[in-house]
Amino acid sequence: MKYNFDEIVNRRNTYSMKWDGGELIKKMRLTERYDENTIPLFTADMDLPVPQPLVDALHKTVDHRIFGYSVFPNDYYEAIQHWFKKRHDWDIKKDEIVYSPGTVHALNVAVKAFTKQGDGVIIQRPVYPPFTRVIESNGRQVRNNALITDENGYYSIDFADFEAKAKEENTKLFILCNPQNPTGRVFNREELQKLTEICDRNGVLIFADEIHGDLIRSNHSFIPIAKAASSTEHIITFTAINKTFNVAGLHCTNVIITNPELRKTFTNELGMQLASPFTISALIAVYNHGEDWLEQLKEYIDGTMEWVVEFLAERMPKVKVRIPEGTYIMWMDFSSYGISPKEVHDRIYNKANVILEDGIMFGEEGLHYQRICIPSPRPMIKEAFERIAKEFEDLN
Ligand SMILES: Cc1ncc(COP(=O)(O)O)c(C=O)c1O
Repeated sequence: MKYNFDEIVNRRNTYSMKWDGGELIKKMRLTERYDENTIPLFTADMDLPVPQPLVDALHKTVDHRIFGYSVFPNDYYEAIQHWFKKRHDWDIKKDEIVYSPGTVHALNVAVKAFTKQGDGVIIQRPVYPPFTRVIESNGRQVRNNALITDENGYYSIDFADFEAKAKEENTKLFILCNPQNPTGRVFNREELQKLTEICDRNGVLIFADEIHGDLIRSNHSFIPIAKAASSTEHIITFTAINKTFNVAGLHCTNVIITNPELRKTFTNELGMQLASPFTISALIAVYNHGEDWLEQLKEYIDGTMEWVVEFLAERMPKVKVRIPEGTYIMWMDFSSYGISPKEVHDRIYNKANVILEDGIMFGEEGLHYQRICIPSPRPMIKEAFERIAKEFEDLN
């Protein structure tokens, strides 16, 4: 089946956080303005319709007319195993899979289960803001191994600093984001091996948030850290269908834990978690029949990213941006305009009426950046960039 991702599907009045979340979004201080002309491109959720086999599976579930407590059938586990084997050459055993109703929820539970008050947790800013929140709200301490960027906006890991932080006495955990949100880096085998070696040497547990792992540019590949490491004894991987198939509202995360002791500790803290029949049938449908859609989607996202880079080079040449290796996120550096981050914000959010995410939310390393999520119909992305470019014309 051929999908038309240019189609604009009206999401207003569907309980969409992006499109119906006006007051909430204002409260989160993302913007002062939110009206019927706002283009919201801040959150990692797509404005694109999902694979048809998923729609069909959900219709079938609705048509049954009873939505009681549900169990995970073998088909659920087999679909996960099949997907990771086929897409990432990763053999996962059924027993190693633990369902959680969300990734941030699972991270929060895992931080509580494996660390204690005052323990240090390494993260690599700029990074997805809830990482900081799950550490600090539980009374643990952030050890920031900031990523380093070169003059082309390519990010890499400061391994000397990473090792120093891993050696600190109370450092117990490292939360890896790979593919990395917001920089779009997809760490290579050598980088992943180095990280695992340092963690192993220093008794540091690894949580790997790999939920963007299916959204990779066509000229790149993704290696799960569990495949790069010599042992998975100290690795817990967080996977999900939510980013890949645009089903964040169905709350379906699967945590992969090979070490039985770690798994027991985690499941004890998590408690018994049941999923809805919609979530179960969705996962089975997308992992068994969603590949064709995903390939078309990836091609579409690649095309949109190429368009963005060309547009910015021509119309906003002071914005530094590169096509990321993975994710559907673009990380734009506005520092060359020589205006304050507040003014950049005002021109984009209040004047152009486009809502992005201020880079400062990802750590102080992001002060001059804006993050945009681009998995929306290309005409919508073009309109958003046209509006933004107009507001910066006087500074070119
Ligand atoms: C790296 C990363 N982890 C977790 C999440 C959120 O996942 P969930 O909705 O399953 O909690 C996001 C959403 O943007 C993300 O980018």
